[in-house]
Amino acid sequence: MSEIDEKAVATLKANDRGGFTVPTSRLYPYQWNWDSVFVALGFATFDRSRAWRELECLFGGQWPDGMIPHIIFRRSDPDYFPGPDVWKSGTAPPSSGHSQPPVLASVMLQLVESGGPDDENQARLHFDRALAWHRWFHRERDPDSRGVIGIVHPWESGRDNSPDWDEAMSQIVVDPDLPPYQRRDTEHVNAEQRPNKIDYDRFLTIVKFGADCGWDQRNIAENGPMFVADPGMTFILLRADRDLLRLAERIGRTDAIDEIRAWIDLIAAGAESLWNDDIGGYCARNLRTGNLSTGISNASMLAFYAGVGSAAQRERLAGEAARILSKVEFGMPSWDPDHTAFEPKRYWRGPVWAMMNFMVAQGLSEAGCDDLSKRVRNDTARLIAQTGFYEYFDPLTGAGYGGGDFSWTAAIWLAWASPDNATRAAQ
Ligand code: GLC
Repeated sequence: MSEIDEKAVATLKANDRGGFTVPTSRLYPYQWNWDSVFVALGFATFDRSRAWRELECLFGGQWPDGMIPHIIFRRSDPDYFPGPDVWKSGTAPPSSGHSQPPVLASVMLQLVESGGPDDENQARLHFDRALAWHRWFHRERDPDSRGVIGIVHPWESGRDNSPDWDEAMSQIVVDPDLPPYQRRDTEHVNAEQRPNKIDYDRFLTIVKFGADCGWDQRNIAENGPMFVADPGMTFILLRADRDLLRLAERIGRTDAIDEIRAWIDLIAAGAESLWNDDIGGYCARNLRTGNLSTGISNASMLAFYAGVGSAAQRERLAGEAARILSKVEFGMPSWDPDHTAFEPKRYWRGPVWAMMNFMVAQGLSEAGCDDLSKRVRNDTARLIAQTGFYEYFDPLTGAGYGGGDFSWTAAIWLAWASPDNATRAAQ
């Protein structure tokens, strides 16, 4: 184990709150959905039962309708806003009222394929809960069976202030009854690396709509302040459906196979409605106006990971990936540096995120784009080795931003980017 590997292990242990891991102390003091799943991959490199425990804790927050929420609040913490009293989930444990990208089934499959009988037993134990969550996504986030997954809040996408949501966000009228609030994030992190005040007013307007209707998900999708088809969510769910299918086959859950296959066919076809020929990539589509967003993001690059597109589309997208990488010192930026909305320091409007790189590179490699895939992995390794386990990084300078000692960055280092894990990375 290298010194950085040891630091990564220490970071995960320091952020462990007894069964679940916080993304980083202070800035994010609760359990976040997809953070925990990537964290499980990190734990799996040195403690497999702790990896499953992380997932078990996440399942512990599942709602009766199958949703696994984006944040689980196990105790109230004044360091974070908006907390449980704003979300008013009415669940035990309290949680936020929408979800986050379902990377879970893909990680369960990875744990099973790299593990032994214990891992298979764990997967068997949790399979129905994962299936129920996928069912929830297909039912509540694709209510008209268009084959694309809509998000009701930018936070649901995990890409909070991406330009993908600019059009929909600009149309949200801030609720005049929004109670005055005090942000906590900008007390922990420089404001220029965080979303703007108007973004926050709109984020909270959506939360208020959800809380006011008792988190009636159908009502929120149909009448809430926003409903935008997200390429990230659509591709991650499609990949997770494919992985859930493999898991079902492996553990003998043949009863679930037809249902999962139907989802895969629907999304693989529907995802094509996110293709934007003007820019040569998959974008977000505002399901209220029909408009496509106008730039390539790191979520567009997950098309390879999801296995969608014709040979011509893939070639075009790979060409865009090469162009984007030629414009930055470190890839894959969360937004196209040639686009006017690019901001290299601001969160999801330009910075590089390690866990996105992990999925992007995996897809590129599976699509035979080995040079691009290696570039993304090497850049991730260089960023972390030079800068540390930051939340996100400047694609031009490599500076680390947001929270430090970040769990998923440490986990991705251990599970994939660390040169000591070449074998694991090859999987
Ligand atoms: C931010 C990120 C989101 C992540 C959370 C905790 O909100 O945008 O993807 O899950 O922080 O790390």
